[in-house]
Amino acid sequence: MRTLLRIDSSLSGDASYSRRLTAAFSGAWAEAGGEVVTRDLHAEQVPHLPHFGLHFASREGVPADSPARALQDELIGEVLAADALVIGAPLYNYSVPSTLKAWLDHLHVPGRTAGKPAESGPLAGRPAVIMSSRGAAYDTAEAEAHFDHAVPVFRALLGTAMGMEVEAITVDRTLAGLLPELGADRAAGELEEALTAARRRGRELASV
Ligand SMILES: Cc1cc2nc3c(=O)[nH]c(=O)nc-3n(C[C@H](O)[C@H](O)[C@H](O)COP(=O)(O)O)c2cc1C
Repeated sequence: MRTLLRIDSSLSGDASYSRRLTAAFSGAWAEAGGEVVTRDLHAEQVPHLPHFGLHFASREGVPADSPARALQDELIGEVLAADALVIGAPLYNYSVPSTLKAWLDHLHVPGRTAGKPAESGPLAGRPAVIMSSRGAAYDTAEAEAHFDHAVPVFRALLGTAMGMEVEAITVDRTLAGLLPELGADRAAGELEEALTAARRRGRELASV
């Protein structure tokens, strides 16, 4: 049985778009017979990385019995045990939520989770599907490149550094209820497309 780790970080609970997408993906995964492990980084927040040494495999200067080591081992162990990741990544101030960034800071350890070359790392080749929800519209390549600093973080860290197969499913215009100029009908249509894509990828990746 293949195991999926579902990560959520939106602060919006049931109203969250990224949570709807991670739910659609993981629901399809479970229906295909896979196991789903969840971590909610908003409900249970990971502290900021407390020690420089934790960024390195040697962990120099970090006491062996430090609770920070144990937490990092738990977070990394959870990822290593998963065949795939699905990550809910809302766009907050053109970047990822700080809760999600704190988790990434624990996870990215050159020499441990990231190999040199990246293909030699323990996570190389595993899929990571990013569910990116954005309040406004990012219709042009230029707008996306200049203002979306969320998805590129995953491509650089999970993809380039750790060798994972990163893909993104995005839903835009989620603020259409507040900002009518975004177009409520178009927003609803794009959400349905993203949900369909999420279900399809969940089913496909559970059955690889
Ligand atoms: C703190 C905060 C910052 C936000 N910053 C942006 C932003 O920079 N650009 C944008 O398009 N939308 C922004 N939004 C709107 C969110 O991207 C939008 O509500 C999205 O649906 C969030 O994902 P969620 O529905 O999973 O919570 C922001 C929302 C919050 C709460």
